[in-house]
Amino acid sequence: MNTLTAGTIAGEFHARRVRALKADVLRLVEEVIDDGVFHGGRRVRELEAVAGERWRGHAVAASSGTMALECAVRALGIGTGDEVIMPALTFVSTAFAVAAAGAVPVFVDIDPHTRTINPAAAAAAVTPRTRAVIPVHMHGLMADMTAITALADRHGLAVIEDCAQAAGATDAGRPAGSVGDIGCYSMWVGKNLGGLADSGLLLARDPALVPLLRKLTDLGRDGERNTHHLRGSRARMGEIDAAVIRHQLDLLPAWTERRRTLAARYADAFATLPVGAPHDAEHRPHTYYKYPLTLPDPATAAALMTHLSRAGITTEQVYPHAVPHQPALRDITHRTTDITVTLDLLPRMVCLPLAPELTDEETDRVIDAVHAFHTDRA
Ligand SMILES: Cc1ncc(COP(=O)(O)O)c(C=O)c1O
Repeated sequence: MNTLTAGTIAGEFHARRVRALKADVLRLVEEVIDDGVFHGGRRVRELEAVAGERWRGHAVAASSGTMALECAVRALGIGTGDEVIMPALTFVSTAFAVAAAGAVPVFVDIDPHTRTINPAAAAAAVTPRTRAVIPVHMHGLMADMTAITALADRHGLAVIEDCAQAAGATDAGRPAGSVGDIGCYSMWVGKNLGGLADSGLLLARDPALVPLLRKLTDLGRDGERNTHHLRGSRARMGEIDAAVIRHQLDLLPAWTERRRTLAARYADAFATLPVGAPHDAEHRPHTYYKYPLTLPDPATAAALMTHLSRAGITTEQVYPHAVPHQPALRDITHRTTDITVTLDLLPRMVCLPLAPELTDEETDRVIDAVHAFHTDRA
């Protein structure tokens, strides 16, 4: 196949998804406009009820994954000088949320196979000041929650699950966010489940946390407009996003299956190549928010990205830099342990296009182009 003459394949597919849902989205927007309630109405409550039931927790809608994390850290009473352990491979928000509370992010290494927090590294980083651990369910695969829970129990630590990339993921049948004290979802439009722009959701295991989480997401209010009980954030979800996300919740299982089908096709196709493919872990099916192929070295990864770009295929690195190496961390008190595996892996991972909206023909084009790259270099 001549990959150079075909159209461009995007790296992300939310524009295509929202376009496909356009008729439903417009209907939902119209309903909200007709009702005239834009916050704190029945759509937010319904989303919370349904998400809470499916994901086995007590849900509070939020304005983003970032704000969900900030509210979770505050709700658990984590503050000045406390240490919070997290993987060095995550989005900056995980660290920013901890820093916003005056606490200290402590970065540890990832497991080379799952790209999620290495429980042994987390255990080695515990000090008398450690208050919590934040496993990040990276690329759509849950962290090893059995090991993390055991560690937390041993040391009396809180567990905040960063579920931003893991809507629909499970560990031994337990939905993301249902195992730790609080799970934090991002429902940014490009996530496996998302609204129209930025949204998020908190999932608490203990229902007693819900009133506090509500206050934290609504400027300290408790349903009554003019009383602010504590310094909360402007972090609530709007009714339009709630309606759109509620609609997508029913579509998520089929979307996840499609992601897994496409990932299996990639894995089959690449089995003979010198690349590493993401895969399920024991009791933890992958939901493939991203499909990071691992190349032998950074130069080969960069060459593959260039090759695919010339073939009209967009790729990305999620993420190219370890969080402690971001410039912003210069101004944030933090501690970094040995993150050799993270630093070795990040520049070697290339995320191929993968989404429910990717067509079979486009999948074939990606496969052909990855093969052509290796044939050219042989
Ligand atoms: C691992 C992780 N944590 C937190 C976030 C923050 O979520 P949001 O973009 O909704 O604020 C993201 C989103 O990119 C993420 O991928």
